[in-house]
Amino acid sequence: MCGITAISATKEALPFLLQGLEKLEYRGYDSAGITTIENHRLFTKKAKGRLQNLKDLLKNESVTGHVGIGHTRWATHGVPSNLNSHPHTNNADTISLVHNGIIENYRELKDILILQGYHFQSETDSEVVVHLMDYYYNKTHNLQAALQKVISRIEGSYALCIVSTIDPDKVYIAKKDSPLVIGKTDNASVAASDIPAILDYTKDVYFLNDYEIAILDKGSVAFFDKDGHSISKELTTIPYDNEAAKKGGYDTFMLKEIHEQPHAIAETLRGRVEGTDRIVLPELNNMKDQFKTFNKAYFVACGTAYHACLSGANILERLTKIPTFTQAASEFRYCDPIIDEKTLCIFVSQSGETADTMAALRLAKEKGCTTIAIANVLGSSISREADHTIYTCAGPEIAVASTKAYTTQLIVLLLLAMYIAQALGYENEHYKRIIEGIASLPERINNILKDEKLFENYAQYLKDLKDAYYIGRGLDYASVLEGALKLKEVSYVHADAYIAGELKHGPIALIEPGSLVIAVATQPNIAAKTISNIQETIARGANVILFTIDGQEVGNVKETYILPKVDPILQSVLVAIPLQLIAYYAAGIKGCDVDKPRNLAKSVTVE
Ligand code: F6R
Repeated sequence: MCGITAISATKEALPFLLQGLEKLEYRGYDSAGITTIENHRLFTKKAKGRLQNLKDLLKNESVTGHVGIGHTRWATHGVPSNLNSHPHTNNADTISLVHNGIIENYRELKDILILQGYHFQSETDSEVVVHLMDYYYNKTHNLQAALQKVISRIEGSYALCIVSTIDPDKVYIAKKDSPLVIGKTDNASVAASDIPAILDYTKDVYFLNDYEIAILDKGSVAFFDKDGHSISKELTTIPYDNEAAKKGGYDTFMLKEIHEQPHAIAETLRGRVEGTDRIVLPELNNMKDQFKTFNKAYFVACGTAYHACLSGANILERLTKIPTFTQAASEFRYCDPIIDEKTLCIFVSQSGETADTMAALRLAKEKGCTTIAIANVLGSSISREADHTIYTCAGPEIAVASTKAYTTQLIVLLLLAMYIAQALGYENEHYKRIIEGIASLPERINNILKDEKLFENYAQYLKDLKDAYYIGRGLDYASVLEGALKLKEVSYVHADAYIAGELKHGPIALIEPGSLVIAVATQPNIAAKTISNIQETIARGANVILFTIDGQEVGNVKETYILPKVDPILQSVLVAIPLQLIAYYAAGIKGCDVDKPRNLAKSVTVE
C-alpha cells in the first residue's frame, strides 16, 4: 500500500523524506517520489520501481528545501509509471500532493474539472485532488479553506499531504480511513503513514482522526475539525524504538520474526494469566456482565488473521457454548449477516488498518453489535473505532508475510475465549490444564526452533515442485490453511489446503507419484481419521510430511515430526512454527525475496 512522509523543518527536508520512505518499504510499492519547496518553487522528482531509483535520480541534485512530501505508490488506478507516481501537481505547478487511499468519486470529479479547463497528466484517482485543491484555492484564496472544501467533495479513503508555494513553510494534511501519524520535535513537524518512518526523529506522536485537518509548521502542529475549528489533541509516546524494527542479525525480517515468537508470545501473555487458573483482561472489565447476553459471536478478518479467527472461533464455541461464525472481512459486508445487539463481533488485524476489516467493523457497529478488536499496532484505526481493543504484543512486524502476528493473534483469541468461559462460569479441570499449557508455550516453541535444520531439509522436497497439498481436520484445518498461504506468498509454489476428509470427494484426483502432501494430525479425537486419508495419498504415490503427536505415527510417510505434548487446543500455535519455516526455506531454494513478496502489501488499505 502507498506510504507517505511529510515534513516542515528548520533544516533540510530530503533526508527525513527518504529515510521515512525506506521504513515504509515493507508496505509494498512500485514507484516513489518527492516534492520539496526550493526558493518558492516546487522541486518534484519521481521514479518507477525501487526507492533506489529515486535516490539515484537525486544523487546529483542539490535539494535544500526545508518543507516537503514523499510517497511510495502501490498502483490501484493506472499502471506503475513515472507519470502515475506521486506527488501530483496542479497545472500552475504551485500545489503538490501525495495521497494514500482511493477516491471513489474521482471519475465524476475529473469530468467536472476537465470541463473547467484542468489538464490531467496521469490515470490516477489522486490527481483529481490536486486540481480540486487548485479550483477551491482560486475561489477561497486560502489553502486551509480549500482543503476543507476538498474533503467535503471527495468520497472514499485518503491520507493527504499537500505543500504549496503559496504558503511555503507549511504542510496541509487531512485523512479519512487511511492511516497517518504526526510527530513533533523542537525544530520539525513530521507526518507518515506508519510509526517506524518517524521513530528516528521522535517518539511523541499524534493520531489524526477521520475528517480532521493538521497543519505542520516547523516544529508546531495545528489541528482543526472539518469545519475549520481549532481542536486540541493528546500526545502519545511510542514505547519502542527503531532497533525493534531492524533485522537483529538475521538475514531477513521474516526469519527474525519467526525466531521472535517465544518472546512475542511471552509478551502477549504478560500480566494476562494469573496463577494457574485465571485470565485477566482489564480491557474487557466492564463487559463481564454482558457476555451472557450474546447469542452468537462473529469472527471477521482477512488472510492470515482470518485463519487465526477460524481457530479462535472453534475454541470459543468449545469453551463457552456460544455459537460462532467466521467470515472473511471482504465478504462480511456483502453477505447480509444476521447480526444485532445480541451479537459479539471480533475483528482481528495486525495492522489495524485493513480496509475490508474496517468496513466490516463499521457495519457491525451500525447494526448495534458489541465489537472487540484484536490488533498489533498501537493507536491503529481499528483500535480507535472498536468498542474494546486487546493488543497482541508482537512488536513491529516488518516482513510482509505474517508470522509472529499470527501466533500472538492465536494467543489473544485463546485468552479471550477463556476469559469469556470464566465470566460464564465454565471453568473446569480442562480449563486449568489449558492455562498451564499456555504458560509453557514460549519454552516449547524455543525447543521447536532448535529443530530448524530439519524443517530446512523438509523444504528440499519442494525444490522441483510447483504444487503442494496441505491436509488436516478441525483445528488442524485452520493450521494447514495458514501453512499453505505462507508457502504460496513467499515461495510462489501453488499450495492448496484441504479438509483431510474432503480429499476423496475430488482433490485426490490431483495426487500422483511425487506429489507432496503436508499433513497435520494433532487432535487426538480425529488424528486416526486424518491418518487414513494420508494412507490414501501414499497409495497414489505421494510423499508425505506429517506433523503429529506421540502415539499417532504412520508407516510409509517420508518424514514425521512429533510435536510436544500440550492440550490439543494449543497445538495450532506450535505447528505454525515448522510450517512457517518450511515456507521460508522453500522461498530461499526458489530464490524469492521473502520479506517483500511480489504483488503483496503489508497494510492493505484498499478494498
Ligand atoms: C499474510 C498476511 C495477510 C494479512 C492480511 C490482513 O501473511 O500477512 O494475509 O494477514 O492482509 O492484514 P491485517 O492483519 O493487517 O488486517
